[in-house]
Amino acid sequence: MQHILSAQQFKSQAEINDIMTMATLFKNNTDYSSINTRLANKIVATVFFEPSTRTRLSFETAVLRLGGKVISCENAQTNTSAAKGETIEDTARVLAGYADLMIIRHPEKNSVARAASVSDIPVINAGDGIGEHPTQGLLDIFTIIERFGSIDNLTLTFVGDLKNGRTLHSTIQLAALYDSVTINLVSPASLTLPAELITKLTAQGCIINQLQTWDSCLAATDVLYMTRIQKERFTDIRQYNQVKNHYILTNELANKMKYSSIIMHPLPRVNEIEPEVDTNHRAYYFEQGKNGVYLRMALLTMLLNPLESINITLLDKQKVSVLS
Ligand code: CP
Repeated sequence: MQHILSAQQFKSQAEINDIMTMATLFKNNTDYSSINTRLANKIVATVFFEPSTRTRLSFETAVLRLGGKVISCENAQTNTSAAKGETIEDTARVLAGYADLMIIRHPEKNSVARAASVSDIPVINAGDGIGEHPTQGLLDIFTIIERFGSIDNLTLTFVGDLKNGRTLHSTIQLAALYDSVTINLVSPASLTLPAELITKLTAQGCIINQLQTWDSCLAATDVLYMTRIQKERFTDIRQYNQVKNHYILTNELANKMKYSSIIMHPLPRVNEIEPEVDTNHRAYYFEQGKNGVYLRMALLTMLLNPLESINITLLDKQKVSVLS
């Protein structure tokens, strides 16, 4: 694993199991005094051409927790030489001479892959337009496994802007690596999941239900994955206004789901989850956000300190086999 650019690069559960194992270890061991040298002498560059709260700050937290250092640029569209016309490729070439790993968010689909194609240090896609957000996908999978033990046999319901929501584009492809997964896709007709993803999920054996209302699927849902209607992707505000209030989760609706179900959201939310739902026992979105730190600590260790990451996962497997 040199770069993390797309969920498509993960071909089996086995390929992500070690990431999940290591993230679990980081979550269970928050005595940071004993692990704060894993990224010693490493510099990570975070360059965000679009706004972010969670992804940039959880990555930076992860680096600092592991003893590394961060160079960071927010508002990169105006605060880097992109404002003078520099290409993403040239920016990446230059950063590769400064840092040991770079994390990029950019408004254009495939732009981070273009940066990676000229970089001799690892590049992580922190969101490329309406493309993907693979580390969010991995932390979503981590969160579901943390709660249910596996994703096999679960029913996942994705609601909202399935066309433009890059987080779910990654999450859904990773979920499809598991067995007997049912995926409900609830969206307005204008915001359906891209056809190529539906074709891929179907080929992988998922049961797919495309719906415009959620009434019929809430009761059977294990994971309700709410998403924001991505206002910034609309060129015509009238089209946004037509769909912005389509799905608003209230406690009355949430309580129609199984007692054991969970509600996820990559955040930020606007109005699609009422604040009253935050105290519903199914609300899992803030824990999901927190998991971003542990998952990203695992990824950074694997990319920048691979020998250490092998040691960590081997140690954990030994511990598990001794216990069993
Ligand atoms: N989930 C997510 O990508 O959040 P941010 O936009 O705040 O990084």
